[in-house]
Amino acid sequence: MITSLMKIDAMNRRQIPFHRAPVGEAEAQAVASALLSGWLTMGTETVKFEQAFAVYVGTKHAIAVSSCTAALHLALEAVGIQPGDEVLLPTLTFAATAEVVKYLGARPVLVDSEPIYFNLDPKDAERRVTTKTRAMIPVHFAGHPCDMEALLGLANDKRLSLVEDAAHAVPARYGGRMIGGFGRATAFSFYATKTLTTGEGGMVTTNDDQIEERVRVMRLHGLSRDAWKRYSDQGSWRYDIRDVGFKYNFTDPQAAMGLVQLAKCDSMHRKREAIATQYSSRLATLDTYRIPRVSDGVQTAWHLYFVLVEEKTLRIGRDEVISELQERGVQTSVHFIPLHLHSYYRNKFGFKPGDFPIAEDYARRCVSLPIYPDMSKEEVGYVVGCLEEIAHDFRR
Ligand SMILES: Cc1ncc(COP(=O)(O)O)c(C=O)c1O
Repeated sequence: MITSLMKIDAMNRRQIPFHRAPVGEAEAQAVASALLSGWLTMGTETVKFEQAFAVYVGTKHAIAVSSCTAALHLALEAVGIQPGDEVLLPTLTFAATAEVVKYLGARPVLVDSEPIYFNLDPKDAERRVTTKTRAMIPVHFAGHPCDMEALLGLANDKRLSLVEDAAHAVPARYGGRMIGGFGRATAFSFYATKTLTTGEGGMVTTNDDQIEERVRVMRLHGLSRDAWKRYSDQGSWRYDIRDVGFKYNFTDPQAAMGLVQLAKCDSMHRKREAIATQYSSRLATLDTYRIPRVSDGVQTAWHLYFVLVEEKTLRIGRDEVISELQERGVQTSVHFIPLHLHSYYRNKFGFKPGDFPIAEDYARRCVSLPIYPDMSKEEVGYVVGCLEEIAHDFRR
């Protein structure tokens, strides 16, 4: 029931961007001093950031790289994915999760979502295991951890390497433990819109010494692991090319920014959590949108806050809801169009609409709302007011 419907007219119309990066003076100063240090690429700041990140997520190792895409590629390479292997991953994800499998000549095998949190469905994953399946890449969608007990059980039973896509999941917890050390390796993203940002960037975390060694070598042209120091007073000009690697290294100005972001990661998370609570407490009273659920025993990172348009009670569909919000100055997004509906995957693997019903139903009805640490209560209230007005104007 809507008691105090806000009329959104030209007088009280506002502009709410989908994202505003929580970057301030402290980040600017840290980046400036890294630039003025005279060392512009990967160096001691990167080592500090890696150590601090490993402590934060509670893993033995953290290796900083240029993106989460690079992190996923290196992690899969390090666990030994070969041409012809099959790798399970959700259809409800971004391009990166699947393309890295193709980089290695392996086959991405798409899996449907479960209907509560929209993470990879362990039962559907199990049905798709063949003699060629070697790995699984669960995505902690929107920052909500996957069912790790079921996925670790499946990985164990079928002897699959678990490489987690944690692009949305800092800081997220499952059973009290931070996401980062459950699988053989975990990939994080520090992309511009992520919960911890360095503009671009990523991290591989692992408790496995062999994976750490391989990722360190392969992230920088396959050179021996200390080769990055070769221009510094602690290094030597001598290095060895141990394999054909990649140019996926991090840089010190990014690391300097990352250290500042990491120090405020918990407080940024509390602010996103408060925004999610404000959204949910008011939207729960409407039967026109389904709000996100949070499982017992987990902490979601709240990278995304999504609602699903209830087609039984609303006369307009998701696309119109997005347009109506846009007319009121609220920018939104859609995460994601499932991979199997994109032309490459349709043409290459013959997928068609209907193949992954849960992910498709989600993707047809979802809207990601603005959520970022410096979003004010008033701004959140405005977005909710717009959704209430749309519910009122377009109710069946
Ligand atoms: C689920 C998921 N995985 C991977 C990535 C890739 O991250 P990056 O841009 O750091 O390579 C993204 C980026 O949005 C993502 O959403």
